[in-house]
Amino acid sequence: MMTDAPVITVDGPSGAGKGTISHMLAEHLGWHLLDSGALYRVTGQACLIEGVGLGDPLAVAEIARHLEVTFSTAESGEILVAYKGLDVSAAIRTEEGGRGASKVAAIPDVREALLQRQRELQRPPGLVADGRDMGTVVFREAPLKFFLTASVSERAARRYTQLIAKGESVNLPRLRKDIEERDARDISRKISPLAPAEDAIVIDSSAASILDVFESVLREAKNRGFS
Ligand code: C5P
Repeated sequence: MMTDAPVITVDGPSGAGKGTISHMLAEHLGWHLLDSGALYRVTGQACLIEGVGLGDPLAVAEIARHLEVTFSTAESGEILVAYKGLDVSAAIRTEEGGRGASKVAAIPDVREALLQRQRELQRPPGLVADGRDMGTVVFREAPLKFFLTASVSERAARRYTQLIAKGESVNLPRLRKDIEERDARDISRKISPLAPAEDAIVIDSSAASILDVFESVLREAKNRGFS
């Protein structure tokens, strides 16, 4: 159901700080949060669980159409994601999970299947939508759009720190290559490629702290009457 509830979109490549900023903004405003990347990640994971190859677009789209996914918040504040009741939160956040997501995300029928599900989250008092095509396709009428970006080296370094903190063994050059490949796939796909909306405010966070970025975002939100 589409409503008049306002939407603020936050798009950009992986590792630009979208997730953190969207989370902080939704919390600050008391609005709902859509992590659209999680839907693509769960679709990839569901294919793995169901034994569906990512090279079979018809079967992958069928998985997306019937995706039994639930989101909940743990006491720690962490967002938990379940597929058919099975906790997949950790599995979908790995580098492999990201690669799988960007492969299924290039299939037009998968994007179509997930479109309505994303739009249903536009509910009062408002929605912060985090993704790649929130401002260009899913919520084209959103009154406030951001496009967060950062250099590849900065994004790779941030991701490296996150993964090390989680105890994963990672290799920085490999991580950088993965990010470049994922960017290339997201930018060059025919349907809903990663690009700033014409009316998006572009913020380069390469040399800025997350708090600096949040301050800029909040200032814009206040200017538009959202606070
Ligand atoms: O944002 P996140 O890194 O979780 O997204 C994982 C992948 O899902 C992206 O690399 C992209 O290919 C895909 N995606 C997308 N459209 C969105 C959100 C994510 O194509 N709105």
